[in-house]
Amino acid sequence: MSYEVKTFPDAKALAEHAATSFIEHSRAAIAARGRFSVALSGGSTPRAIFAVLSADQFKTEVEWSKVHIFWGDERNVPPDHSDSNYRMAKETLLDLVPIPAENVHRMEGELDAAEAATNYAAGLSAFFGDEPHKFDLIHLGMGDDGHTASLFPGTTALAATEATVVSNFVAKFNTNRITFTAPLINAARAVEFFVTGANKVDPLFEVLKGERHTDLYPSQLIAPTDGTLTWLVDAAASARLTA
Ligand code: 6PG
Repeated sequence: MSYEVKTFPDAKALAEHAATSFIEHSRAAIAARGRFSVALSGGSTPRAIFAVLSADQFKTEVEWSKVHIFWGDERNVPPDHSDSNYRMAKETLLDLVPIPAENVHRMEGELDAAEAATNYAAGLSAFFGDEPHKFDLIHLGMGDDGHTASLFPGTTALAATEATVVSNFVAKFNTNRITFTAPLINAARAVEFFVTGANKVDPLFEVLKGERHTDLYPSQLIAPTDGTLTWLVDAAASARLTA
């Protein structure tokens, strides 16, 4: 699996590049297929990207009426909870751009996680129809334990081979999550990781350069079948990579 690493001096420069990439991917997808399907990641890193995308000089660069927003994972909380990935995206992006409500495909974190996962998988089938479940772009973060989406070390979701969306019990948080599986992510046309901060130095090095140990470093599961994989990293996180 080939991938590209793009290093930026800081998180702001990375966010500006990620926003430009979002615009470019949206234009290519809409030109080719009339719509742009993108799955957002949660956590804190995407905030800076959404801030750039929702800024006046950027938000008109996207044909929002043809953009369909999904999430690669969600916490098992209601949409107005402070931990909700949906709430973060709503406040920092979706409420600030003219995207039709029906184009925002929220994971129902308020439900039992297994029910929410089943519903979401059914929603993907409805969206993609007879076509393969192939997102135009999937955003991913990476935790300092090497997880991505809600594919955490030692959890059952890592073994999924057929399912697209599953519930996943995460013992370290004593909670369930709803998450895309690696096969669904790997079917995408393009996958972009965003990794910033000194606390990611070691896991980033292990994921990209260390022994393959997907149970310990689930981000190593991400290897798009025929799509592109790009790691957008800042100087702080990539210190060992560039050493
Ligand atoms: C989540 C995310 C998760 C996140 C990483 C990195 O629901 O928390 O989807 O996979 O991307 O934990 O989070 P930060 O960007 O906050 O470092």
